[in-house]
Amino acid sequence: MNFQIAVIPGDGIGPEIINEAIKVLETIGKKYHHHFHFQKLLAGGCAIDKVGTCLPDETLDLCKKSDSILLGAVGGPKWDTLPGEQRPEKALLRLRKELNLFANLRPALLFPQLKDACPLKKEIVGNGIDICVVRELTGGIYFGEKGRKSSDIMGEIAYDVESYSVSEIKRIAKIAFEIAGKRKKKVTSVDKANVLESSKLWRSVVEEIANDYPDITLHHMYIDNASMQLIRDPKQFDVIVTSNMFGDILSDEASIITGSIGMLPSASLGNSTLGMYEPIHGSAPDIAGKNKANPIATILSAAMMLRYSFNLNKEAQAIEDAVTKVLKQGYRTPDLIHTEMQLVSTKEMGEQIIKNI
Ligand code: NAD
Ligand code: IPM
Ligand code: MN
Repeated sequence: MNFQIAVIPGDGIGPEIINEAIKVLETIGKKYHHHFHFQKLLAGGCAIDKVGTCLPDETLDLCKKSDSILLGAVGGPKWDTLPGEQRPEKALLRLRKELNLFANLRPALLFPQLKDACPLKKEIVGNGIDICVVRELTGGIYFGEKGRKSSDIMGEIAYDVESYSVSEIKRIAKIAFEIAGKRKKKVTSVDKANVLESSKLWRSVVEEIANDYPDITLHHMYIDNASMQLIRDPKQFDVIVTSNMFGDILSDEASIITGSIGMLPSASLGNSTLGMYEPIHGSAPDIAGKNKANPIATILSAAMMLRYSFNLNKEAQAIEDAVTKVLKQGYRTPDLIHTEMQLVSTKEMGEQIIKNI
């Protein structure tokens, strides 16, 4: 089969980790007789530098025409002083919005081989951790009205509005229940319904949707408690469904339980098979250009692409199995390193994964 993949390497470690994911996909293509066509596109800080805008029209058009999008990371200190609308991160937000990719799946799975890299005590980790964060991705405070105004009494004021419509909550809740149905049948909806009006609506709509899924258990939890429970007893969670910003924060927290933020992939999905796949981490300016970044989150994102956009389940599994084998063999990038392990670079990690496909 032929697949057109739009590739956005982006900034910082983006190009380094993307290269490894492309090589892995090429290996899969050869082994299973698929033709993956990669089209590298500009977006983020590098696009600002080259063409003066973070998301050139051409990039957006070609993304829309592709079968799926693979993205590294965007942003970095060089562009931090730009106004919000012009920042590299805006490219990501626009892509998500324009392609209506409202459901962001962020699986936090602790590979058994990485138990020692998990900062939690062994008795807390037990037999392992397997959580799927379902983050709403095109609404909430990220996309509400924002701006500045000045008041005679208070001086300058900045605001960002958090709002959710019933239909936005319904569609993300349905996705969470569907996913839970294929897992341990438990949904924890995380909100701040003791304070926020948008969370009160969130809670009632999630409850309404739960009626259609009688075999799934629903719990509600406030975000402050959830942040604490994730560390105290992560095994209590199966699927976590939450708003855009809470999901952003909780998924970074969940990632470190898996050993490193460099392990967490994501899929951003909408109503068609066109999805965007990216690691949850950023451009890691502190290690960029050093061949040190962990490419596994990006490689696992490529596996999610095969599964969710192309329905290539055994090929996706082959990537995930190869990652497991390499971890078993003891290869570790610096973010995962502990005693008696084989320290490898970004490139070497990619090569080892390819060898095991
Ligand atoms: P970050 O995720 O880039 O880095 C946080 C820490 O994790 C750093 O110490 C970094 O070295 C480490 N880290 C991240 N990915 C790693 C990997 N693959 N291997 C090893 N270590 C890794 O978060 P930040 O520092 O807050 O943000 C840096 C820039 O990235 C900012 O401009 C931010 O806006 C942007 N960002 C982009 C995305 C994205 O493109 N999806 C996501 C998050 C942040
Ligand atoms: C992420 C990132 C983005 C977000 C930023 C870069 C806009 O942190 O993908 O998790 O907040 O969604
Ligand atoms: Mn984030």
